[in-house]
Amino acid sequence: MKIAPSILSADFAALGEAIARVEAAGADLLHVDVMDGHFVPNLTIGPPVIESIRKRTRLPLDVHLMIEEPERWVETYIKSGADYVTVHVEASAHLERTLTLIREAGARSGVALNPSTPPEVLQYVLDDVDLVLVMSVNPGFGGQSFIPTTYEKIRRLRAMLADRPAVLVSVDGGVKADNAGPLAQAGATVLVAGSAIFGAPDPGAALVALRSASEVLRRA
Ligand code: DX5
Ligand code: ZN
Repeated sequence: MKIAPSILSADFAALGEAIARVEAAGADLLHVDVMDGHFVPNLTIGPPVIESIRKRTRLPLDVHLMIEEPERWVETYIKSGADYVTVHVEASAHLERTLTLIREAGARSGVALNPSTPPEVLQYVLDDVDLVLVMSVNPGFGGQSFIPTTYEKIRRLRAMLADRPAVLVSVDGGVKADNAGPLAQAGATVLVAGSAIFGAPDPGAALVALRSASEVLRRA
C-alpha cells in the first residue's frame, strides 16, 4: 500500500517542515490539491508553490487538479515539478487527448472520478491511465466524511483493470485508520489522507498507523 499525505490539511505557512515529517516517516507520494474556485468551491495553490515544494522533497508529487479545462494547464504543472497529474473526468471534455498530453509532457497520467461518476466512463481510456483517483468525498475540502459506495466502485474498477495490475487505484477523502483495511481489501493501492495525517499531533506516527491499518486484513 502506498500512502500519499495530502498537504491540504497541513499548515501552509510551515509547509516545508510538514513535508519533511511525512517524508521521514516513509510517505510514498505527496498529494497536492489544486483548486480553482470554479470546478470546486474552494481555491488553493498553483504552480509557484509546487515549484517550491519540488525543491524541498524527493517524494514524487501527485498533483490532483480540481480545475476546469485542466488540459490548458497540464504542461505548466509538469514543468513546475508534478510527477503524476490527475484530472477530473467531469472537467475534461476530451479526456483521451488530455491523458495523452500528460504522458507526452513527461508525467504519469491520472484521472479522478467524483463520487457520483461511475467507473465505466473509463472503459475506453484504460490504456491511457497510470492512476485512477476514486474520490470518496465530493472534492473541495479536507475533513469530510467518507462515502461508503466507494468500496463497490473500487471493486468494479479493479475488475475492469484485471489485466492492468500496474495501474494505481488511489482513494481520496475521509480515509482513516478505520477504513484503510477495507479499502485495501477492495483493491485500493494508494491511500490519500489529509486530516488523518496532518490533523494528528504526530503526522509521522499517524502515517505509520494508517499503513499498518491497511495491512491488517491482508495479514489475517
Ligand atoms: C479533497 C481533496 C483531498 C483532501 C482529503 O477535495 O482532494 O485530497 O485533502 O482530505 P481528508 O483526508 O481530510 O478527507
Ligand atoms: Zn486530492
